Amino acid sequence: MEAKIKLDRDYKVGEVDERIYGSFIEHLGRAVYGGIYEPTHPTADADGFRGDVIELVKKLGVPIVRYPGGNFVSGYDWEDGTGPKENRPRRREMAWGTIETNEVGIDEFQKWAKLANTSVMMAVNLGTRGPADARNLMEYCNLPAGTKYSDMRIKNGYADPFGIKLWCLGNEMDGPWQICAKTAEEYGRIANETAKVLKWLDPSIECVVCGSSSSGMRTFGRWEAKVLEESYNNVDYVSCHTYYNNHAHDTPTFLANNLDMDYFIRSVVSTIDYAQVITRSRHKVNISFDEWNVWYHCNEDPNAKPFERWSIAPHQLEDVYNFEDALLIGSLLITMLRHADRVKVACLAQLVNVIAPIMTRNGGGAWAQTIFYPFMHCSEWGRGTALVTNVECDKYDSGHYTDVPYVDSVAVYNEEKSEVTVFAVNKNLTEDIVARVDMRSFEGYRVAEHITMHHDDVNAVNTEENPYNVVPSSNGKTTLDDGTAEALLPAASWNVIRFCK
Ligand code: AHR
Repeated sequence: MEAKIKLDRDYKVGEVDERIYGSFIEHLGRAVYGGIYEPTHPTADADGFRGDVIELVKKLGVPIVRYPGGNFVSGYDWEDGTGPKENRPRRREMAWGTIETNEVGIDEFQKWAKLANTSVMMAVNLGTRGPADARNLMEYCNLPAGTKYSDMRIKNGYADPFGIKLWCLGNEMDGPWQICAKTAEEYGRIANETAKVLKWLDPSIECVVCGSSSSGMRTFGRWEAKVLEESYNNVDYVSCHTYYNNHAHDTPTFLANNLDMDYFIRSVVSTIDYAQVITRSRHKVNISFDEWNVWYHCNEDPNAKPFERWSIAPHQLEDVYNFEDALLIGSLLITMLRHADRVKVACLAQLVNVIAPIMTRNGGGAWAQTIFYPFMHCSEWGRGTALVTNVECDKYDSGHYTDVPYVDSVAVYNEEKSEVTVFAVNKNLTEDIVARVDMRSFEGYRVAEHITMHHDDVNAVNTEENPYNVVPSSNGKTTLDDGTAEALLPAASWNVIRFCK
């Protein structure tokens, strides 16, 4: 089978905002306790942060991490997690049915973020709380000194403001499962007022307003339109959330799910632009795809530990990812890059243990799941300008998708480093594909490396005992002659083809 990939350095989708390589830590399961924080772990530092986890997070290169939720944030009193640890209250956490000890709060998370070379994307509670508490949190985090909450931060040992630049106005407020969910009218008003107050205190920040919890919500589209009608000029991004599953055990259909993400992005872009028209605004709003991943394995796992309600940091949502998940994650990243002009922020949900690329055992090891690798590759080489990348290849029909291209691809040009990287997934499970890449506009470039990731078993996983079962290697075959690169995309594979001068 063959494919043609056409690109030109002058045909640009847009600059890739590095924040699309963000991730997410929620107070849920073992994401915080047993994930990033475990004071008794052999690699823990004086503050209790696991060194082995920080090393893996650094490898992923996540520029932002959304915190502290998720559904959790809609019941969170942020003050509980500040001040001397011995005074912090234990609470019944309603979103996930656990006990929150508050050993880690915004101060500790800020410290952790610095160690992990990342920055915090803060979510405020618009469920049980509202603009007043968001205002207090903003003052605590971003204002220098001399007023109640900035002085409280200083008293807690943090002289310098945290300078948090990106703020989420609640979480999934349309979802009936959300603590104090709202109608679009109710939420649009409160989100707008909260954004106003936050920006009055710190005009340098940007705000993310909640879009629908998924494109499958009954109110999808109408929700975005109404919320934006209320808040358009005070917000900068609309959130999108999506999780895919392969409950049907139908790999071709599962791998086609990036078509759904593409539809989702195009729909939300249209709705944003409609809202811009009806609000007569010159302001541009973009997308924050701040929850995306595969999520279903934990519900199918016969060995999953039973969940004990009101326990501390139980095993929750601990999906063990397989090779086909890595292929879909690659295609989803490609899809976001192909919309780099409008998707400016994105968070792989989540980062550690909870539907995450990094897994740990309490007191034991930390390892990279299969999905870690395509994410790491895009985060490293997918920075620069996303190029319009035309793919001509055979297509297939499967499940509720028709005309699914066997090859997904996008090229990113990093002018500063004189590098072009072509990312490609071959979804054909049995046939290799020879892709001819038009490189005529990159005269003088050579093939630097062709990384491939393939496993004969789409269900293969990485575990603590066998952490390198599904890993990439640099053994890909690409030649470049006369402006055409010929790349062999093995059946069922993730490919990173790097060109440099
Ligand atoms: O990421 C897990 C949960 O999924 C988040 O808490 C919520 O926002 C979404 O429904």
